[in-house]
Amino acid sequence: MIEMLHDRDRIFRNLYGFHDAGLKGAISRGAWDGTKFFIDKGHDWIINEVKASGLRGRGGAGFPTGLKWSFMPKADPRPSYLVVNADESEPGSCKDREILRHDPHLLVEGALLASFAMRAHACYIYVRGEFIREREALQRAIDEAYEARLIGKNNVHGWDFDLYMHHGAGAYICGEETALLESLEGKRGNPRIKPPFPAVAGLWGCPTVVNNVETIAAVCPIVMMGGEEYAKIGIGKSTGTKLISASGHINKPGVYEIELGVPVEEFIFSDEYCGGIRNGKKLKAVVAGGSSVPILPTELILKTAKGEPRLMTYESLSDGGFQTGTMLGSGGFIVMDEDTSIVKNLFTFSRFYHHESCGQCSPCREGTGWIEKVLKKFLDGTAKESDVELLWDIQSKIEGKTICPLGEAAAWPVAAAIRHFKHEFLEIARNKKFVDISHYDRLNKIRA
Ligand SMILES: Cc1cc2nc3c(=O)[nH]c(=O)nc-3n(C[C@H](O)[C@H](O)[C@H](O)COP(=O)(O)O)c2cc1C
Ligand code: SF4
Repeated sequence: MIEMLHDRDRIFRNLYGFHDAGLKGAISRGAWDGTKFFIDKGHDWIINEVKASGLRGRGGAGFPTGLKWSFMPKADPRPSYLVVNADESEPGSCKDREILRHDPHLLVEGALLASFAMRAHACYIYVRGEFIREREALQRAIDEAYEARLIGKNNVHGWDFDLYMHHGAGAYICGEETALLESLEGKRGNPRIKPPFPAVAGLWGCPTVVNNVETIAAVCPIVMMGGEEYAKIGIGKSTGTKLISASGHINKPGVYEIELGVPVEEFIFSDEYCGGIRNGKKLKAVVAGGSSVPILPTELILKTAKGEPRLMTYESLSDGGFQTGTMLGSGGFIVMDEDTSIVKNLFTFSRFYHHESCGQCSPCREGTGWIEKVLKKFLDGTAKESDVELLWDIQSKIEGKTICPLGEAAAWPVAAAIRHFKHEFLEIARNKKFVDISHYDRLNKIRA
């Protein structure tokens, strides 16, 4: 049974900013220690350690990191690039910003080691437009690293390496890796059709790996403890630790570093983590991995359909597929109590996806707007029972028919809400209930 994370296994030792985020503080926590030793071991040694660790991308899809790096060409006349995705815009996710603010040297050092492993002499960190303080903290760390000759040309590690911070303009779609690359190149952030994948033709048509902040920040601690040791933390193919952004109707919202494998029930109800549902209310539902993953009602988030305790792992959360399961995603864990209106919550998410759709593909461009309009009818008290079927029909025509997964991100929450809470839609339609959404009108006025 996985218990509370032992301090010695923590990757993020300054998650809450209690200590110095600068170079001195980072060194006192073990950063920049033995970096040259690891570099001297060679490119493939680092890739193999990361492979052995079982680390999976922390940006949402959970793709094995070492494997992704091994797709990069070893002898290619074009320059290679590492791009770090610090766009963190998924509703419910707020973990990367804590690394940027409080432990940016973990990211800077990780970027050097990961770039070296992939034979890249340059790395770009793409920071979400709204992250002003985070950008400043990251830039301070980059400047300190240059000044101490930890990075840059002729640095003490013997691998020329330039690190650039790029500040986005605040579009969710720029978190999608190919839209991010377009934006970095100075163009509109429109996702590209894949293939070619970034490892073949990424930034400026050159071999590129895009990784999440948390993924790259974990690299140095992993090579320091050794890939095999890291793999002992966690369960099965969900190795290591994961930052979970816990929000919603819980007593202790916050970002928690957990050992993968903690039972969901323990995560929600124990005092070490969320501390239970606030005001003594009952749990109604959870969105476990950020707004784009399927919502699950209490009985399915605490236990799988087979009756086994649901665990905080990639496998356990997705057990049962989307009929009875969900995804760990980026770890944006949104908890809803018994008073929550699932329809109103879905409207909030759907409105977001409509607003953020880049508009390149018709199913997403038209479908997201249509979903928002139909859901608004439920909130206005003008929906008919047949509108539930209509919503189902619209979402089913988006999945798998778009250039990028934003289409699915918009469709899955609708499908899951109807699958598990159809009675709420029908009740609203039958009783012509009105749901107060006046705050949206106020928001619209502020925006205008
Ligand atoms: C619409 C959309 C938004 C995304 N936003 C982010 C994001 O903000 N941060 C992130 O790391 N990955 C995001 N991703 C996933 C990236 O495309 C990519 O898979 C990830 O950065 C790879 O890093 P990893 O392998 O370390 O997880 C998003 C994907 C989609 C489809
Ligand atoms: S799915 Fe949506 S966001 Fe993605 S490329 Fe198509 S229109 Fe743009």
